[in-house]
Amino acid sequence: MNDQLIPIGVVGLGLMGCSITTCLLMAGHKVTAVAPVAADLLHAEKRIMEHLRRSAEHELIAEDPAYYFEQLVITEDYALLIDCGVVIECTIEDEKIKQSVYSKIEAVISSEAILTSNTSAIPISILQKLTKHPERFFGLHWAEPSHTTRFLEIICGEVSDPVKADFLYQLSHNWGKEPTLVKKDIRGFITNRLMYAMYREAMSLVESGYASIEDVDRACRNNTGYWITLVGVFRWMDLTGVAAYHTVMKDLLPTLSNSPYVPEIIDKIVREGGRGVANAKGFYNYTPQEAKLWEETFTEFSYEIRKLALKYPYDVVERKIKAAAADM
Ligand SMILES: NC(=O)c1ccc[n+]([C@@H]2O[C@H](COP(=O)([O-])OP(=O)(O)OC[C@H]3O[C@@H](n4cnc5c(N)ncnc54)[C@H](O)[C@@H]3O)[C@@H](O)[C@H]2O)c1
Repeated sequence: MNDQLIPIGVVGLGLMGCSITTCLLMAGHKVTAVAPVAADLLHAEKRIMEHLRRSAEHELIAEDPAYYFEQLVITEDYALLIDCGVVIECTIEDEKIKQSVYSKIEAVISSEAILTSNTSAIPISILQKLTKHPERFFGLHWAEPSHTTRFLEIICGEVSDPVKADFLYQLSHNWGKEPTLVKKDIRGFITNRLMYAMYREAMSLVESGYASIEDVDRACRNNTGYWITLVGVFRWMDLTGVAAYHTVMKDLLPTLSNSPYVPEIIDKIVREGGRGVANAKGFYNYTPQEAKLWEETFTEFSYEIRKLALKYPYDVVERKIKAAAADM
């Protein structure tokens, strides 16, 4: 069998499991999608079909959605994972639940198959200790909606097999990703470490009365938002003058928040049951209509930003140089 088109299993069909399944179907894989809780069966098929329909509308796929959908089996039966070369666990962020899911998966799959987790922040070295074959275990950290985003972190735990890591790295290019290999496990991996440093500073600025939530958001969108799809932080500093950053760091870094506590501003929302747009109560309050429109607008935007990102891949300049040389 073509290694690039091995059957893949997804276990956990919540928000991310459904979009990951869609991404794999779009890349041409047969997918066995396991619902560990019956509630998943109420929405999984509809969500995946809707993702495929939208992807067709945005010309991300060449065939009719039904063509991809035929490659999918949705089931509660772990035994159907038997042929899968890669299995992606995508259940809630709870070590005990993930462990019980791993034992059900490992009872079925071959010892050669790769087992991965979409955990946001549990160290892979901890999760791999919960499995029978820790060397074939990796973090595969996706970004929602997985069928449009270019992001993927492949994370090695302490005893992960580097050859299998390389296999996942190569394979993920076929899923439309620009992957990042995290060679050494660290809590939060790469992006969550960067993002949580920013979330903490944003909350500290608001709690200390420097600016409102709206104004912090506006600054973030209109400054970072203008370059972050083209370049990462290092290239950004190169583009805008490294020495200036060096100078500013000396005085600014000691003033940034390094509090180890969860800020009160988010703690209060969570204590009071706020979940954000999902229940119309978060840092902002929403009418049900506004909450629905924010969700729809985010979905629409994710297709638009993808088009722009595809025009500017990470090696955009190398490509321009090659194209110019070919023209000569
Ligand atoms: N939401 C995101 O943007 C995002 C991004 C990156 C990583 N993740 C990670 O992906 C994983 C899934 O997140 P999600 O956003 O899809 O969550 P979700 O709440 O939408 O889905 C969670 C899924 O977990 C499974 N589940 C729930 N209770 C279970 C139980 N008792 N036993 C077995 N399975 C159970 C179900 O399949 C459920 O649909 C988490 O580890 C999360 O940290 C989420």
